[in-house]
Amino acid sequence: MTLILDPHNLRKLVSDYNRLADDADWNRFQMSLRSDVDPALLTEGQKQAVVFVTHIENHTPGYIKDYLSRFPVDGYREVRNAMHNRELFHFIVRWGVEEDRHAEALSLYQLSAGIAPDADILLRELIEECIKPFSIGFSEPVQVFTYTFLQEKATQLYYQYLARMVQEPVLKKLLQTLAKDESRHFVFFSRVLDAYLDTFGGKIIALIEEVALSYRMPLYNTLKDYRRRAIRMAREAPGYDRKTPVRILADHLEKAIPTHRDLEIPIRQAISRMLPDIFSGEETRKGEYGAL
Ligand SMILES: [Fe+2]
Ligand SMILES: [Fe+2]
Repeated sequence: MTLILDPHNLRKLVSDYNRLADDADWNRFQMSLRSDVDPALLTEGQKQAVVFVTHIENHTPGYIKDYLSRFPVDGYREVRNAMHNRELFHFIVRWGVEEDRHAEALSLYQLSAGIAPDADILLRELIEECIKPFSIGFSEPVQVFTYTFLQEKATQLYYQYLARMVQEPVLKKLLQTLAKDESRHFVFFSRVLDAYLDTFGGKIIALIEEVALSYRMPLYNTLKDYRRRAIRMAREAPGYDRKTPVRILADHLEKAIPTHRDLEIPIRQAISRMLPDIFSGEETRKGEYGAL
């Protein structure tokens, strides 16, 4: 089973995204000028949080490669699939540009704030993680989109909560800017999920649930010392709960019920399995691997 949206419907979602994105550019090189940064205002924990999220963002080549390999334009007998993937490509490349800008902006901030001593040393540290293979790990497109829905919401919220605690004005502004981009990414994926519900109805509920039940942030299984670092970075963003994105996904499904009355029972059943799993069964592990 491979469930894809009609290219005509996907085009509207991608165009709406790019219409906003084309007006939302910002200059990574102007964002973190050394002369504007006051490193004395940063705590050690905040510096480590910046290092951690730089790794997450810097894996963009892996995320984009994964997407492009799942949605190639060539090699299809079914022209409809190629049309779908060509429309999606408009989104993938733009999204890739934005995530890559996040990675580079955070790297430039590390250099301006003296967190990293020099660009070559920083690149070597980043590349050690970047060369490890990455896969989102689900086969159905709607699952890939659900996973990214959760990831985008997780990063948006983390940046928002971290920004609240940061006194250093350049980092605060940078985090707020990143959060705005992540929010736009999240909206795109939430609209894609809505389109899947409209098109495929009950066929996709179990697929979405499967992603929610197994959700972890990218790199949790490859990044050096992930667990200790994740706990530490969670402390830097009080109020953030790594379970919130799944709760938001559950809310999103629940809000779809009035327009999908026939799906009320399967949606409520899926939510009941998603929420007890994250709110009770894992409570004892709370804080184990932190915010992301
Ligand atoms: Fe990002
Ligand atoms: Fe994003």
